[in-house]
Amino acid sequence: MDFKLTEEHIMIRDAARDFANNELLPGVIERDDKQEFPTEQIKKMGELGFMGMMASPEYGGGGMDTVSYVLAMEEISKIDASASVVMSVNNSLVCWGLDTFGNKEQKEKYLTKLTTGESIGAFCLSEPEAGSDATSQQTTAIDHGDHYILNGTKNWITNGRTADFYLVIAQTDREKKHKGINAFIVEKTWEGFEIGPKENKLGIRGSDTHSLVFNDVKVPKENRIGEDGFGFKFAMKTLAGGRIGIAAQALGIAGGAYELALKYSKERKAFGTEICNHQAIAFKLADMHVSIEAARLLVMKAAVDKDNNGNYDLSGAMAKLYASQVAMDVSVEAVQVHGGNGFVKDYHVERMMRDAKITQIYEGTSEIQKIVISRSIING
Ligand code: CAA
Repeated sequence: MDFKLTEEHIMIRDAARDFANNELLPGVIERDDKQEFPTEQIKKMGELGFMGMMASPEYGGGGMDTVSYVLAMEEISKIDASASVVMSVNNSLVCWGLDTFGNKEQKEKYLTKLTTGESIGAFCLSEPEAGSDATSQQTTAIDHGDHYILNGTKNWITNGRTADFYLVIAQTDREKKHKGINAFIVEKTWEGFEIGPKENKLGIRGSDTHSLVFNDVKVPKENRIGEDGFGFKFAMKTLAGGRIGIAAQALGIAGGAYELALKYSKERKAFGTEICNHQAIAFKLADMHVSIEAARLLVMKAAVDKDNNGNYDLSGAMAKLYASQVAMDVSVEAVQVHGGNGFVKDYHVERMMRDAKITQIYEGTSEIQKIVISRSIING
């Protein structure tokens, strides 16, 4: 077992770290405060190749492995989890989904723009009545020969307004249950497509989250992904990889909060010495360090499993379940180490604590991860 990163991995990690410190850190507090999307920063991330890292080079992607992707996700998330969720959805749900299951025409038309950051993608599965229970799709896509007519509402969609292309999951044949679900590529400008109001969120406030409404949207048949009825499997397979990206995001939030807490504890004095010299604080730092290292091993294991075509449904769910708990615990403790200053926006850790919460909810709640894990270990 080799725990060493390759030179290329280190280069990618360092490039992401530099970008995060130089381009994302300035203004991160204000963007969170004003719920402002990091438009310029995401454009630059596209130019640097961070928006389609794993996609095929022939469609403009970086052709990199999942390990590279999670290293970059971790670094970006240490500074700005709003930017990293945009990156994660675009990379692991939209680009990976299209690259793996789309046909040549779809990739040429859409993927080439998504990998370079020229366009941004969204993944539309959740509905007002179908969050965790993803098979209960109420959005319908009725077959009309050479096109489908799409009707329904999607909720909590990341990149809801910013996206140009939307991967939409909908029910075509209700009798066939999940085997009657399809996935479609929908363009923003199509008639009948409406973007609902922006959600006012606890965390990741720089990302734009909206409900979307489809009123008799005409979708050409060539925009269906895969065979008729493949939509639910498409969503599940794509989300299995997406969960590794969110696990890396959680790891990054935890790492960012820990680094700030460590630094602060070496500077802040109380009772005549730096607070890191008090066991009450030193033990918190020790616990944070151990849990982050354990989360990193799980995240890397899942990434390596995906790169080696292993069972990353299980390892990805384990990584997300654990890393998101670590993000929550570490960020709460980082606020505690900062004391009164931790409650103030200027010190960043309160934002990280708010950002951490969503990693236990999106791309499958922690409870859903436990369903995936328990089914996998029971059924083998
Ligand atoms: N890969 C391939 N196929 C899979 C699969 C996987 N990982 N997981 C399930 N399936 C298949 C099953 O094999 C089954 O197909 P067959 O009948 O042909 O065998 C079918 O899907 C239905 O599976 P289940 O019977 O297990 O379905 P279920 O209803 O009992 O539970 C679930 C499935 C795991 C709970 C699923 O509903 C789920 O993952 N829910 C959570 C949804 C979710 O993660 N939403 C996130 C929204 S996207 C988002 O958050 C993005 C963002 O903006 C950041």
